Amino acid sequence: MRILETVASVRDALSGQPRAVFVPTMGGLHEGHLALVRRARALGGPVVVSVFVNRLQFGAGDDFVRYPRDVQQDCALLAREGCDYVFAPSEAELYPTPQVYRVVPPAPLAGVLEGAFRPGFFEGVCTVVLKLLAIVGPRYALFGKKDYQQLLVVQSMVQQFALPVEIMAVETVRDVHGLALSSRNAYLSPAQRAEAVLLHQVLLAATERVAAGAPIAHIEADAVNALLAAQWAPDYVGVRSRHLSDYVPGQPGVVLGAASLGQTRLIDNIEF
Ligand code: PAF
Repeated sequence: MRILETVASVRDALSGQPRAVFVPTMGGLHEGHLALVRRARALGGPVVVSVFVNRLQFGAGDDFVRYPRDVQQDCALLAREGCDYVFAPSEAELYPTPQVYRVVPPAPLAGVLEGAFRPGFFEGVCTVVLKLLAIVGPRYALFGKKDYQQLLVVQSMVQQFALPVEIMAVETVRDVHGLALSSRNAYLSPAQRAEAVLLHQVLLAATERVAAGAPIAHIEADAVNALLAAQWAPDYVGVRSRHLSDYVPGQPGVVLGAASLGQTRLIDNIEF
């Protein structure tokens, strides 16, 4: 496995390799990321994983400074999975001048749910993803469904810009209790980790009530209240269509939620 730190070295390593498979990450790797890498390997081309904590997608009060960073540990995990290239640029390499050209995703998709609570988040994500895709030039790029809205936003950006890459979605990996794996789980104390499964349980209960035909507004309000009652600070629980428009009863949907447990903000979703 080669560790590349410059844009030029990535271009050099991948020149003449049109079938590269790309997994963008911010590091802090866990089994969820490794599932993406395994799926990437199964696609056949050289596997490229980026490790870059993208300042552009963090808001003023967000956890940019304390976000888990351990590139050595990440590289050890990736080497074991048979990753071919790690792209781990510095900020100065990826943003040598202030990134004044930005991708602004449309508000109906990116201004709701996560976008409503994290202004600028999807702009930061799209901007770095576009840049990474331009550098790596992969045939496939893999994204986890845990960041469901991010996946949809990236898919729609790729479609609108006619980028020559196929975005592939990979299922969320959960621990035995149902907690979705996330780099931010590292912030949780052992007691909080045990409590953290509540978000998944609340979303699961919401899907059951949708199936039973309960009114969507009641389901969402009750889910938020269940989190409040357990001393969480919920941002939202939303029942939506798979494209994040209003839910149409009887159709496939997704319930998404975000809530803070202590200082740690967690998100999760369940398709139904
Ligand atoms: O999902 C993430 O880890 C990040 O948002 C991504 C896609 C790597 C962009 O920084």
